[in-house]
Amino acid sequence: MIRLSNKKILLCVTGGIAAYKTAELTRLFKKNLAEVRIIMTKSAQEFVTPLTLQAVSGNQVHYSLLDEEAELGMGHIELAKWADVILIAPCTAESMSRLAQGRANDLMSAVILASDAQLFIAPAMNVKMWEDKVTQMNLATLKSKDVLFIGPDSGEQACGDIGEGRMSEPDFIASKIAESFTSSLLNGKKILITAGPTKEAIDPVRYLTNKSSGKMGYALAEAAYLAGADVSLVSGPVNIIPFNGIKLININTADEMLAEVKALTDQIDIFIGCAAVADYKPVIFEKLKIKKTDDEEISLKLIKNPDILQYASDHMTDKLVIGFSAETDNVIENAKIKLLKKNLDMIICNDVLNKEIGFDSNDNEVHLITNDDVIKLSKTSKLKIAKQIIKSIELLIKT
Ligand code: C5P
Repeated sequence: MIRLSNKKILLCVTGGIAAYKTAELTRLFKKNLAEVRIIMTKSAQEFVTPLTLQAVSGNQVHYSLLDEEAELGMGHIELAKWADVILIAPCTAESMSRLAQGRANDLMSAVILASDAQLFIAPAMNVKMWEDKVTQMNLATLKSKDVLFIGPDSGEQACGDIGEGRMSEPDFIASKIAESFTSSLLNGKKILITAGPTKEAIDPVRYLTNKSSGKMGYALAEAAYLAGADVSLVSGPVNIIPFNGIKLININTADEMLAEVKALTDQIDIFIGCAAVADYKPVIFEKLKIKKTDDEEISLKLIKNPDILQYASDHMTDKLVIGFSAETDNVIENAKIKLLKKNLDMIICNDVLNKEIGFDSNDNEVHLITNDDVIKLSKTSKLKIAKQIIKSIELLIKT
């Protein structure tokens, strides 16, 4: 379940006896490093107190649509945007019915209507209610809207009846949510990704570097890992903790990055050069701090760094080699030239002058360029862009 780490799960609890199991469910999510926020309907609060779920989730429980204070904090639209997935557990027949109708008259239904996140429902109700024709029609309607159902299970129910309608057990629900974050697009593939800036020392206290935050490379590593790949990430100095399960190799300079890439060359299937490698480094590393003199001008002599992507393209001829191109003008034209010059399978380019999508921003907008195609990926989060890039890499493998 390691793949739940950093995932944002919005758990909605409705009024069924199985609500008592949501404390255990929340604990499981938290144990597997997910972030959990909870919405309770009014009737859910008859079965379990908000305080209990606040204690296990570590966050204040949300339950009111028309609460000014709550809306000032994390309002319903923020909650809708925050969630990576939304899970209703337990979900009553009444809640299923309201969702099938597209109602938005309480916090839970309003958030669900306003969210793009995948919705999961773990129904819990009496067997007769579950088998009722209208409930089954609501089930079909919700499935047609791409809602995914977990359970219900069969067995003895709280009311003594026997049949389908029991909420699935918390560990089963949690494992289904974890599975939803993984795909098998790159199952068994070994990927090497470079990320972040390099830092080229001038003397013991000074260095040359650039504005790269590493966010795009780390998002790619996460997306590749979630698609089943074995991921090695060779990274310059950044302030990001990589997704659990990714093999991180820290470096500072372009030479160190190249050495790590060389060491892994024979072991990988795909190379993605996302790092902003310094093109030049000081010719001489001064062992002692360079002193200030009376000279108005001094000069620093630079020498070209190795081109790591070019190395990969030259030495990984049977592998997929993908590069990035950060440009400030003629973005697509310049990237096409690099695609040919470096003999790449794909180049991904963006305009780094645009502050909303450039270095250090959370969003990106890129073009994926191959010999046959130019595909635009519109502005969205770097993780979403990364997932789309992984999909196109899978298509490249197939062709
Ligand atoms: O030619 P340019 O530096 O603009 O190409 C950018 C691409 O080349 C990126 O994928 C970057 O990671 C890679 N690169 C590299 N080594 C360098 C310079 C750039 O791997 N020394």
